Amino acid sequence: MSTIEEALRKAEQQKQIGQKIIASDDSASEPHDIQQDSHDSIEGFVANDQESFNRPVEKFDWNFLKSKGYICPESAHSKLAEEYRSIKRPLVVNAIGARKKDIQRSNLILITSSVPGEGKTFTSINLALSISAEFDKKVLLIDADVSKPAVSKVLKIKQTPGLIEYLEGEVDNLSDIILHTEIDGLRIIPAGKRHKYSTELLASNKMVSLAKELSERYADRIVIFDTPPLLATTQAEVLASMVGQVVLVIAADSTSQSLVMESVKKLENCADVVLTLLNKTKRSLDTSYYGYGKY
Ligand SMILES: Nc1ncnc2c1ncn2[C@@H]1O[C@H](COP(=O)(O)OP(=O)(O)OP(=O)(O)O)[C@@H](O)[C@H]1O
Ligand SMILES: [Mg+2]
Repeated sequence: MSTIEEALRKAEQQKQIGQKIIASDDSASEPHDIQQDSHDSIEGFVANDQESFNRPVEKFDWNFLKSKGYICPESAHSKLAEEYRSIKRPLVVNAIGARKKDIQRSNLILITSSVPGEGKTFTSINLALSISAEFDKKVLLIDADVSKPAVSKVLKIKQTPGLIEYLEGEVDNLSDIILHTEIDGLRIIPAGKRHKYSTELLASNKMVSLAKELSERYADRIVIFDTPPLLATTQAEVLASMVGQVVLVIAADSTSQSLVMESVKKLENCADVVLTLLNKTKRSLDTSYYGYGKY
C-alpha cells in the first residue's frame, strides 16, 4: 500500500473515530448555547464602542482571495464552503458549544502541520472566514507564524505592530494590536516585526498569560493561531501546550506517514483535542477533499 493510500485509509478511519466523538452532539448547534454566548455584551477586545467605532477597518480583496481558492461571501454555497462547514463544526462545538466544559482553553485552536506548505495558512484563514460568517460568532485570527508571517500577506493587510510587539512589551494594550475587519465578527492580530528571539517570546510567561486571558476573558470568541510547521521549529509545539484544540493539517499526497506520526507524538501531551485535516488530495475534481479525525 502506498503512503498516500495508507494516509487516506488512515484518514477514513480517523473520520469515523472523529465522527463518533463529535457528531452526535447536535445540541451544541442549538440556539441555547449560542444565545448564552451572544448575551455577553462586552464589545470584543476593545475598551468601548466609541473606540471601536473610530478604528480603521481592514477591507479584503475578495477577487484575489477567490483566485487563490479562499472562501468568499459570493461563494457561500461552493463545495469548499460546504467542506469548511463540516470542518469547523466539531471545532466550534468543542470551543463554545456543549463540549466546552470538558476541554481546557477550548476556544483556542492552533493550526499546524508537520512540514512547510501543507496548507496551515489556507486552513486558518478559511476557518476564520467560515466561522465569522455566522452571525453570532466572533473570531480572532492570530498570525503566530512570526518568522514567516503569511496571514497579512494573503489578506493584504499593511504591516502594523502585532504579536511580537505585544510580547516584547513595546505595545501595552492588547486592543492596540487587534485589527478590525470588514467582517464584523472577524478580528486579526498580525505577527508584527521580525525578532531575533521570537521563539523565546512565544514561550514566555507573557504568551502564557495572553493565552489564559484569551481563554478566560474572551471565552466566547474562537481564537485561531496560524503557526509554523511542527517538525521545523519548536514554536508550534510550545504554543500547542497553551491551547485547547490543535488541527494537524496533512498534505495527503506528499507527507509521509512517519512524519505525521512524529508530529502526533509531539502533540501527545499538548492540547486536549488533536484533530487531523487531510488537505490537497485529489478525490474531488474541483477542490480538495478533507479527512477529519482525532488521534
Ligand atoms: N486545499 C487547498 N486548495 C487549494 N490551494 C491550497 C490548498 N491548501 C493549500 N493551498 C495552497 O498551497 C500553498 C501552500 O499553502 P499554505 O501557505 O497555506 O501552507 P502553509 O502550511 O501555511 O505553508 P508554510 O509552512 O510555508 O507556512 C498556498 O499557495 C495555498 O494557497
Ligand atoms: Mg503558512
